[in-house]
Amino acid sequence: MLKYFFALFGLLVVLVISIAGFRGAKSTRSPIEIFPDMDHQPKVKAQVASSFFSDGRAARVPVAGTVPMGYAIPLHKPVDGSLGEATGPYKQIYFSSGPVYFDTGKIGDQWGTGMPFEISPEWLSRGRERFTINCSPCHGATGAGTGIASKYGLVAIANLHQDRIRQMADGEIFNTITKGKNTMMGYGDRIQAQDRWAIITYIRALQKSQGGATINDVPPAERAALEAQK
Ligand code: HEC
Repeated sequence: MLKYFFALFGLLVVLVISIAGFRGAKSTRSPIEIFPDMDHQPKVKAQVASSFFSDGRAARVPVAGTVPMGYAIPLHKPVDGSLGEATGPYKQIYFSSGPVYFDTGKIGDQWGTGMPFEISPEWLSRGRERFTINCSPCHGATGAGTGIASKYGLVAIANLHQDRIRQMADGEIFNTITKGKNTMMGYGDRIQAQDRWAIITYIRALQKSQGGATINDVPPAERAALEAQK
């Protein structure tokens, strides 16, 4: 009987020491990792030293002249409410801040319509590019509201070809892009003001392409050729 007691007591001592006895003790060996998860990653953290590069720093300086993708080096921001350089493609990073039509889409108390600066073919392609990046995931490449997000459960994405939106003032669409509408979030902090106008130009082109165009939209010089094809 007693020998069982000693055996059990011995085991208990070993158990207690093995569990509790080495707590707090330091070891130079790496711990046993059953699930290492993502504890070890071949990356450098911000602002740390590195012996890999000759200057001893892990962070690299961007190549001289680096600018964010799609943008030129930012110029001054107009503070007087004027459009300044913002009207030229890629000239400036500008997120609307002023009280003028260009920034708000409003003329007086009303939504204005028309582009606040001259649109060139270059602007239209810029609009297409920005629409494809920012809007097509929901509204679809043609604006019909059938983008990829609609297949993953986002409901009631507006079809940009409905008459209501065809007739909507440019300024109101500008405001929708800037501030969002119901379940659509605002893009005012990530799409530059001039790009928002370029996107609207492209939406107008899409609307024409989906049954909104008439023969009067064709330049007179090219009408005869189209009529001949009929
Ligand atoms: C995350 C998905 C999503 C993205 C991205 C998105 N939209 Fe929308 N948009 C919606 C939804 C949803 C609605 C319908 C909102 C509602 O219930 O009125 C909508 C509505 C609209 C309307 C109609 C507003 C009205 O007054 O009825 C316009 C115009 C519009 N979007 C333009 C754009 C443009 C331009 C972009 C790109 C800059 C864009 N949207 C990006 C989801 C999106």
